[in-house]
Amino acid sequence: MPYAKIVGSGSYLPPRIVTNDELAAELAGRNIETSDEWIVTRTGIHQRHIAEPGVKSSEMATHAARAAMQDAGVTAEDVDLIIVATSTPDFIFPSTACLVQAGLGVRQGAAFDVQAVCSGFVYALTTAEAFIRAGRAKTALVIGAEVFSNILDWNDRSTCVLFGDGAGAVVVKASAEPGIIGAQLSADGSQMSILYAAGNVSRGAVVGDPFLRMDGQAVFKLAVNALTQSAKDVCKEAGVELDDVDWLVPHQANVRILNFLSKKLHIPIEKVVVTLDRQANTSAASVPLALDAARRDGRIKAGDLVMMQGVGGGFTWGSVLARM
Ligand code: ACO
Repeated sequence: MPYAKIVGSGSYLPPRIVTNDELAAELAGRNIETSDEWIVTRTGIHQRHIAEPGVKSSEMATHAARAAMQDAGVTAEDVDLIIVATSTPDFIFPSTACLVQAGLGVRQGAAFDVQAVCSGFVYALTTAEAFIRAGRAKTALVIGAEVFSNILDWNDRSTCVLFGDGAGAVVVKASAEPGIIGAQLSADGSQMSILYAAGNVSRGAVVGDPFLRMDGQAVFKLAVNALTQSAKDVCKEAGVELDDVDWLVPHQANVRILNFLSKKLHIPIEKVVVTLDRQANTSAASVPLALDAARRDGRIKAGDLVMMQGVGGGFTWGSVLARM
């Protein structure tokens, strides 16, 4: 049975950067008070990239996928599986993955979306690994792409300061050498009420509330506990120790969550890849964006053991352990 190995990565961030001061000034115009100081202290976020109106997840996903394919040295003829993790798809259907397939000129293989909110990328990567291990695909593109700015209530200061837009992608290939060596996924649908965007379209009209709503403190607690347990479980399954992990690439929600995680797992904070200071929380895109940043700046090298972790709405969470 072949292994599934990550052989390339790529990113796309919309060019428009909005700093905390700029966001605070914009909100002040609507009599909503916030500040750089509040946002940095509570979250670690300094700025975020925001897509121009009309920019779609599939466009950003296609850019990120091209960069990952170039990095991996694969062409459109090689790709036989495309999975896009997104909670902000272009359309109800077709899937964002099908739009990416067309954009890249891929003519073969399967393409579909995975919806697990901020855990979407680790869910999609685990799915791609299973396809490859089963011999059903040889070269997969796994992408996280979000335009979360579209589903934020820009009058709710407790959520709108937290998120950004972007896309990250990896190429995963069948390999004789070990690549992904462990995966753990969980969900607890009974926790829906702490994080949701409970709107829909029915008979041509938006019904319910189209915006993201969150109980921040409940999410905080659940995220720390779920990620800690998941990290321990995935290491046990793979037969490695937490000490063996060279890099932790967690979902980028809040720097305080990352500090807690580092302490609870006894993984020094220097080994935790952090991008949320510049990118904020990009939901399903945050893990591949962080992985790509650390591969490209030379921190993550071939042979390193990397733990990727997602946590988000559903509630969903999970971890993937990969030898690079
Ligand atoms: N600017 C200024 N004040 C604010 C802002 C803001 N942007 N947002 C909220 N406040 C105020 C509140 O109104 C409240 O005021 P009050 O005391 O007068 O009522 C005060 O700040 C404290 O609010 P809390 O909600 O208690 O603040 P807390 O310290 O919990 O921080 C936060 C909020 C940052 C959301 C935190 O709970 C958190 O990080 N939770 C994790 C959730 C998360 O990261 N979610 C991301 C999406 S989910 C995911 O990706 C897994």
